[in-house]
Amino acid sequence: MKDFITLAQLTPGELQGLLDLAVALKMKQKRGQGEPLLKDKVLGMVFQKPSLRTRVSFDMAMLQLGGHALYLSPNEIQLGRRESTGDVARVLSRYVDAIMARVFAHQDVVDLACYASVPVINGLSDYSHPCQGLTDLLTIYEKRGSLAGARLVYLGDGNNVAASLMFGGALTGMHVVVASPSGYEPPTDVVTRARELAQATGGSITLLDDPHGAARGADVLYTDTWASMGQESEAAERRTVFPPYQINAALLGEATRDVLVMHCLPAHRGEEITDDVMDGPNSVVFDQAENRLHAQKAILVELLGKV
Ligand code: CP
Ligand code: NVA
Repeated sequence: MKDFITLAQLTPGELQGLLDLAVALKMKQKRGQGEPLLKDKVLGMVFQKPSLRTRVSFDMAMLQLGGHALYLSPNEIQLGRRESTGDVARVLSRYVDAIMARVFAHQDVVDLACYASVPVINGLSDYSHPCQGLTDLLTIYEKRGSLAGARLVYLGDGNNVAASLMFGGALTGMHVVVASPSGYEPPTDVVTRARELAQATGGSITLLDDPHGAARGADVLYTDTWASMGQESEAAERRTVFPPYQINAALLGEATRDVLVMHCLPAHRGEEITDDVMDGPNSVVFDQAENRLHAQKAILVELLGKV
């Protein structure tokens, strides 16, 4: 594995390996036995969009592993505008040991990986958010003890986060149900690829439009913002379409008693999720946020540890 661009590139075994490594690294860190596995390695972090979790968790991951991270803001690195994406990749490869990039167009992170001689990690594109997907699987795995067979219900926009959950759920034998309003379903190529992956694991991918039917018997209820970064001009219109997909007490009542309520954050409280549910006993959203750190340490060690 040179790069980490989409979960769909992994085999079920490789994905399980990353989860096991994340669990082991987390346990060591919690016991105060973290090791400098990436001593003096440097991660260049290219951000074309804002971030709290991705920026801080990658920075802390490198610090805890004995290395450093450099934050490169949208004003500094203007991919494809100040210079070509290929040239950014070639130049950064001469300075840093790995690149993490948060971009608009997925093709930009694909191009970075193509032209960089160092590993490239997708820190979110319009198409997928694999670091989040790995983190979500880690969180469910920790809380439930297993992944295969669980019913993971994603409610809302069929976006980048939904795509990574579909790929990750398919690779781990989960039954992923996505309930979206008409016109906001996940892209056809994502559904097709996730179904192919699910065939090998006994998992499944189901698309529905009825949020209550979807939530029935859910082991995990997941949602994300109705308007992603870059879709700000559609936010008002989306606020008229998505309210039936809100995770609230009534919807929670459809799910299993121990259902895990998840959100990648940032949350828009009162829109896709209500305060009572987000702050309630089923919510694991802040454990999930913490796990970004542990999951990404596994990705970094996998990509850089043997270099
Ligand atoms: N979940 C997530 O990626 O958060 P940030 O946008 O704050 O990085
Ligand atoms: N779907 C959201 C996720 C943010 C972490 C976005 O792309 O803005």
